[in-house]
Amino acid sequence: MKTLLQMHDVHAYYGAAHILHGLTLQVGEGERVALIGRNGVGKTTAINTLMGVARLGDGEIRFNDVPIHKAMPYIPAQFGLAIVPQGRCIVANLTIEENLLLGAARQRPGPWNLNEIYRLFPILKERAHTPGTALSGGQQQMLAIGRALMANPSLMILDEPTEGLAPVIVDQLADTLNGVTRQGMAILLIEQNLGLVARTTSRYYAVEKGRITASGSVNPDHIKELYSHIAV
Ligand SMILES: Nc1ncnc2c1ncn2[C@@H]1O[C@H](COP(=O)(O)OP(=O)(O)O)[C@@H](O)[C@H]1O
Ligand SMILES: [Mg+2]
Repeated sequence: MKTLLQMHDVHAYYGAAHILHGLTLQVGEGERVALIGRNGVGKTTAINTLMGVARLGDGEIRFNDVPIHKAMPYIPAQFGLAIVPQGRCIVANLTIEENLLLGAARQRPGPWNLNEIYRLFPILKERAHTPGTALSGGQQQMLAIGRALMANPSLMILDEPTEGLAPVIVDQLADTLNGVTRQGMAILLIEQNLGLVARTTSRYYAVEKGRITASGSVNPDHIKELYSHIAV
């Protein structure tokens, strides 16, 4: 299996604050991987380092075998990485359709376009010309996922997508993720909802204090064994 994302011994900083302490992980083509851990351990920072928001000190990040030393948001996008950020980051003064088109700014060839996103999430079509923030939390999450898919990514990273969502919406999210990955797209799912992890991923990494402290396969029948990594 070809490696898509490789983070090797990554140390990352916000100013002088040293947040990631040698984090190593990889995601292969078409893989469905979870990144779990308590609040504040550095999960979002791992993504921010990819995007150049946190500073990469020592270590190496490669995407599609291309080193990302001086990360710039468009570089990973160009090579097929799309992010569904924590908190969704819907642009308030753009319509739903404009938010979706933002995701296509670096569109690569692939199955996803406006029509296909509207087929997946009909509510987005109904509301296409209303402001993105006029949606409920669950609908905004659909929009954030739709926006990421518009790039036709080979890897989609989702940062705590279930935050603030009702259980029935989490069920829909599981179905959505299983549907979109069936075509071979890889996902890296940052999540504390182990039910969603069990239903959508096959392998996990657990983060503690800025490094990986456990990893293995996700066994849906023994998902409670992972609970210690997220319990406070
Ligand atoms: N922009 C920032 N500047 C300084 N410190 C930050 C910033 N963002 C997060 N941190 C700190 O980095 C640590 C890891 O945060 P984060 O990666 O957001 O954790 P997680 O996503 O696992 O909850 C926390 O101690 C947090 O306070
Ligand atoms: Mg976070």
